[in-house]
Amino acid sequence: MSTLVAIRDAALNSGGDYSPAKEKAATRGVFNGRSPLLHRRIKLLLGGFKFKLLICFAFLSIVVWFSSKIGPFMEWNPHPDSSVFSPSRGGFTVLINTWKRNSLLKQSVAHYASCRGADAIHVVWSESDPPSNQLRSYLNDIVLKKSQTAHKPNFKFDLNEEDNLNNRFKPRPDLRTDAIFSVDDDVIVPCRTLEFAFSMWQSAPFTMVGFVPRMHWLDQKTNGMTQYKYGGWWSVWWMGTYSMVLSKAAFFHRKYLELYTNEMPRSIHDYVTKERNCEDIAMSLLVANATNTSPIWVKGKIYEIGASGISSLNGHSVKRNKCLNDFVALYGSMPLVPTNVKAVDARNEWLW
Ligand SMILES: *[C@@H]1O[C@H](CO)[C@@H](O)[C@H](O)[C@H]1NC(C)=O
Repeated sequence: MSTLVAIRDAALNSGGDYSPAKEKAATRGVFNGRSPLLHRRIKLLLGGFKFKLLICFAFLSIVVWFSSKIGPFMEWNPHPDSSVFSPSRGGFTVLINTWKRNSLLKQSVAHYASCRGADAIHVVWSESDPPSNQLRSYLNDIVLKKSQTAHKPNFKFDLNEEDNLNNRFKPRPDLRTDAIFSVDDDVIVPCRTLEFAFSMWQSAPFTMVGFVPRMHWLDQKTNGMTQYKYGGWWSVWWMGTYSMVLSKAAFFHRKYLELYTNEMPRSIHDYVTKERNCEDIAMSLLVANATNTSPIWVKGKIYEIGASGISSLNGHSVKRNKCLNDFVALYGSMPLVPTNVKAVDARNEWLW
């Protein structure tokens, strides 16, 4: 407090240019004097200010608490459950890619069945043995039990005998929605976050909308060819720039399944089959090449259940760099478009 007074005094006594604010402060006299009496008054004033601030804060807390209780009756709350999801605008198909992790699969199917936008849940199964009857009936039951809506999600397995990462993007004749939510069996996206991302996708249905951003950084030029570096989460976080969202948790239009399987160069399929990796980079390049625009990263907490997958294995980033550069060489130019846009749910961002 005394520092404040000293600064004000210095400013007032510096004899500088005329300023109305200065004059006002001077004529009010409160900050101008030096007597102990005035000091005490200032202290009192500021003490009172603190007290008022405390009262204000308490009052605000009560208002926030109260409005959360009576929210549904308030005029500015259009939906009782405050969800952006509207069934009249269609839902999405959750496409879960799994491989020999039945306990994780059970958890994620149960979770996605409880999300109101999920019109169907398809599990991409890539093992020589089909799923057991026990697993099938367990999953069918859990979908019916967890579903929150009258319309129960359609549950089915898409069987593939061969273990091949291209399987996850095979076109499916029985899809009822344009929106695909592609997800790994160990990734859980909370329903509210998922439905927010879905509404984002609906306003840009040919773009990929997802939760796991990645970037291609310029590396160097070697004999005329530009080399890129695959940028992981930390570089995206640091720079705030990305050009891909990974299909381990992303929405895209079902037409890209068709494009991936039937139009994408065969050499990319073979590469993915052989390397058992990079199907997500291939999908990002495909969508970028088809749209000439960037994907959309949606802010939201996502949870990885179970032990971590291949991304923690040694040599992963070397492989990813290589795929990226090999695929780009096949395209002839870099189709990825960097962006800095991040979509946030305004309901969670009330501190503007
Ligand atoms: C990229 O897009 C163009 C234009 O749509 C298309 O002609 C070309 O085949 C695509 N490239 C690849 C490698 O898919």
